[in-house]
Amino acid sequence: MKIGRISIANPFLLAPMEEHTNYPFRLQMKRHGAALVCTERVDAIDVAARDRRAMRLLVTNPSEAPRVGQISGADPATMAAAARVVEEQGFDAVDLNFECPIRRLVDRGEGGALLADPPAVERIVAAVVKAVAVPVTLKIRSGPDSETETAPEVSARAEQAGAAAVEVHCRSVRQAYVGGPDWSVILRVRERVKFAVFGSGGVRSAADAVQYLRASGADGVGIGRGCLGNPWLFSECRARLHGGVARRSPTVGERARALLDLAEGEWQHYGATVALRRLPRVTCYYAKFLPNFAEFKSAIHQVRNLNDLRRLVREHFRA
Ligand SMILES: Cc1cc2nc3c(=O)[nH]c(=O)nc-3n(C[C@H](O)[C@H](O)[C@H](O)COP(=O)(O)O)c2cc1C
Repeated sequence: MKIGRISIANPFLLAPMEEHTNYPFRLQMKRHGAALVCTERVDAIDVAARDRRAMRLLVTNPSEAPRVGQISGADPATMAAAARVVEEQGFDAVDLNFECPIRRLVDRGEGGALLADPPAVERIVAAVVKAVAVPVTLKIRSGPDSETETAPEVSARAEQAGAAAVEVHCRSVRQAYVGGPDWSVILRVRERVKFAVFGSGGVRSAADAVQYLRASGADGVGIGRGCLGNPWLFSECRARLHGGVARRSPTVGERARALLDLAEGEWQHYGATVALRRLPRVTCYYAKFLPNFAEFKSAIHQVRNLNDLRRLVREHFRA
């Protein structure tokens, strides 16, 4: 499958998640078989101004290719300028966020707010497509609310303006993350466009992923919360799609190694101070299955360096 000139090796993609899908996380998901990885949303104004924090969110390396950098904003010229920076950083595609339901963003007329204004989306896409040579994609939801489904029109306009693919989070903006996704929106988007259509929402197991893929006719499935602490989900999805035998559950040792691998990556990426602050959030997803999880969760706050962490993991992750 192709997004513009990018080849996608399988239909299972990492969905962007703020505070999670940083460089070390993306690398781990990639190693476990995610076909395409994406940064979290970064404000176009900050990217265009090369703000330090924004640029750290856009750190990448060819080892995670193909990879996508995501920006949000409402002003076509600023989005175009930001897209150029994303391209310069080495990303293989630029993704435009018309998805985010966060009030702060919606009140500024950005993210999910733009789904109420399909012509505005078209203008932004056209400006960005003109500004960069890499493919431009967009991330949307079904529409502003359950009564107003604009995803098909927004996708059709975006394709006309030169976009190369769309990923639809199959919930409305008003729904945020509450309630089940409705994947039937993908069928209605499909009817309006020829480019690749991906869906996301509610994938927690390989069975979910394959079922949504087949029932909706999507070209691929974005996996969000389901892969937190569970990078094995990507290889399970691929095995299930090809009718293979379900992989055995990861061993305790494999879980310990995945946790440490991500933590070490965070240390390198952020430095010790920030990595330490993020540690409880990052590691607890990998430790949730432990019978003594409550103990691990309180002990993680006492960790001061990587050696402490390695010791804690040795003590708690025993087969
Ligand atoms: C914590 C969190 C942060 C998210 N951040 C982004 C983001 O920065 N950009 C984006 O397009 N979608 C974002 N999403 C939406 C996901 O990419 C995805 O569409 C959604 O989570 C799919 O649903 P699932 O988590 O039920 O699989 C975020 C979701 C979560 C849970």
